[in-house]
Amino acid sequence: MQKGKALYEGKAKIIYETDDPTLVIQHFKDDATAFNGIKKGKIVGKGVANTAISSMLFELLEKNGIPTHFIRKISDDDMLVKKVRIVPVELVVRNISTGSLCKRYGVKEGLVFKSPIVECYFKNDALNDPLMNDDHILALEIAKADELSGMKQIALKINEILKVFFDSIGVNLVDFKLEFGRYQDRILLADEISPDTCRLWEKGTNRKLDKDRFRQDLGDVESTYEEMRRRIVGEKK
Ligand code: TMP
Repeated sequence: MQKGKALYEGKAKIIYETDDPTLVIQHFKDDATAFNGIKKGKIVGKGVANTAISSMLFELLEKNGIPTHFIRKISDDDMLVKKVRIVPVELVVRNISTGSLCKRYGVKEGLVFKSPIVECYFKNDALNDPLMNDDHILALEIAKADELSGMKQIALKINEILKVFFDSIGVNLVDFKLEFGRYQDRILLADEISPDTCRLWEKGTNRKLDKDRFRQDLGDVESTYEEMRRRIVGEKK
């Protein structure tokens, strides 16, 4: 599958046209940003690690009945995916307190919630992705009621599948962000699932194994992406 023209360039990925109008290539860059682009850097090997990790996790979710945009990994840093229209809502699922939740509500990091929290944010860089409730999403016609309840239900199912998987590799799934897209008459899980979009803490030590190493200048950034690639996907062939 040949890359055509770039349709969209985001902070960490580029979407390319293909000769099939229903498919696009999702290319993963080494570029990293935080705090809505205020902090910028490069994490050598991140594109390769996130392509391998995302591909493996999308395959796992598909096997467990979650409809996704994923078709196949086509190179070290490219995935072939269905061309969706992204719903401008970012769904965050939280199992353990950290990040913006601690800041917003003044709670300490590491509280284990009895049941997961699902939050919705308006995907809008110019507005800094503000938190929204269901009424905002419906009133502003960002998604329909059945789409919203479907996305939330799927997000919780994904949480159950990923929690079990990460547990099996010695990692606690702390929180993660999902994006969905419209494709024909369906909603598919889209975008990526990687250490850029999840918080992953090593069981026992709570060592951070995700992009917080970059956001918080914790060091060992590149080696952590490679460690997660290895833990999730296994040794390179
Ligand atoms: P937060 O605690 O900063 O709101 O982040 C919640 C989760 O969402 C965390 O797993 C990191 C992920 N995330 C993204 O994928 N993209 C973003 O732009 C932000 C702010 C968070």
